[in-house]
Amino acid sequence: MKRYLLEPGRSIAGSLAVPGDKSISHRSLMLGGIAQGTTQIEGFLASEDCLATLAALTALGVRIARPAPHEVRVQGVGAAGLRRAAAPLEMGNAGTAMRLFMGLLAGQAFDSTLIGDASLMRRPMERAAIPLRKMGARIETHDGCPPVKIMGGNPLHAIDYELPVASAQVKSAILLAALAAEGRTRIVEPAPSRDHSERMLGAFGVEVLREGAAIAMEGGQVLQGTHIDVPGDFSSAAFFLVAGCLAAERGLTLTNVGVNPTRTGLLELLQQMGADIRVHRRAPAGGRADAEPVADIEVHASRLKGIKVPESLVPLAIDEFPIFFIAAACAEGETLVRGALELRVKESDRLAAMAAGLARLDVEHELLPDGLWIRGGQGFGGGTIDSQGDHRIAMAFAMASLKARTPIEVRDVANVATSFPGFVALARQAGLNITELG
Ligand code: S3P
Repeated sequence: MKRYLLEPGRSIAGSLAVPGDKSISHRSLMLGGIAQGTTQIEGFLASEDCLATLAALTALGVRIARPAPHEVRVQGVGAAGLRRAAAPLEMGNAGTAMRLFMGLLAGQAFDSTLIGDASLMRRPMERAAIPLRKMGARIETHDGCPPVKIMGGNPLHAIDYELPVASAQVKSAILLAALAAEGRTRIVEPAPSRDHSERMLGAFGVEVLREGAAIAMEGGQVLQGTHIDVPGDFSSAAFFLVAGCLAAERGLTLTNVGVNPTRTGLLELLQQMGADIRVHRRAPAGGRADAEPVADIEVHASRLKGIKVPESLVPLAIDEFPIFFIAAACAEGETLVRGALELRVKESDRLAAMAAGLARLDVEHELLPDGLWIRGGQGFGGGTIDSQGDHRIAMAFAMASLKARTPIEVRDVANVATSFPGFVALARQAGLNITELG
């Protein structure tokens, strides 16, 4: 089993470019696949999750070339051009791929089955199936989880749907189905979630209207192939942003990072904690008003203090809580996160996995039903952490080594490749003493 060994207490510095954004890479492949004409993708994240989406689209009859590792050319087949796959579509660890494919395949003429790895086979899929059934789709789950069977040949109609939880994956599944549905679909979110789908649909020539907390889209619109520049993934940069707060005495810069405001809740949280972080905006690609905003982010070692996290920021920092809890453990005083029940149904139960790791490293904390309380400022002990096969838990505890008293071993780290290929090399480049074994 793959594991990391980390020597404690290094300082970090330099200028780093993290790999492309996972959410945007998935979406660029899928929308490119059902567009008319060619879509050229630059800065593509060649991680296991996104390669699962690429392989699934290939199995559905889309021709996809990769002239270079981070460059992809998708030959769109148009709205009705996908073909039945010969075998179940394997989504690996990727919840985004599975839920978005549910929407994409709900309105097709053929049947599909979606499966994944052990973690994904335990994750809830009814949250996407329920609204899709309301649109006329026929979908079966197994006790709410994968395998997901999607029966073809069911014409879809528009819905007016209020999401019970803020979920970009469910919102995006509905939008993808709505493209094939008759009428105008309207979605209301309880709180804003990432809006990459809405922005990218615009880039493909689809009109998505924003009406306060609601978005609306007319079915039957045709997507035109386009050029997508994928910015660096804020969720990958997040590990180094926190590492910088802990140990970048001379400063650390992360270049070309996506700073879509529906993703950057962590920036706000760290700034509330007193972090010295400066965002240097770059000109948006193509000058479109809804283009993904990009920046270089500079961070300097900071004295952090504990905060009470506003619940409204939880969806905007949803993937960053593992590394946020590491920041909280290094901050003077108490930090409290509530309203984060969603963390229990991610790649692992991230509240439980983080609590177990913090206990191992002697951090005073309390696991709450929907959050975590931490008293920070004492640094970390050392020891062996079980990542529970969750990429973000593994990378978060790797960063804890910067403030640890003795070495840290993180077990079960192979899944870091689902989102962040090259993590170890980049962490070493920044100054961490990290070795991958096994
Ligand atoms: C994602 C949405 C989020 C996030 C996931 C990626 C996306 O999930 O946690 O890593 O690309 O739409 P939810 O929408 O279920 O919160």
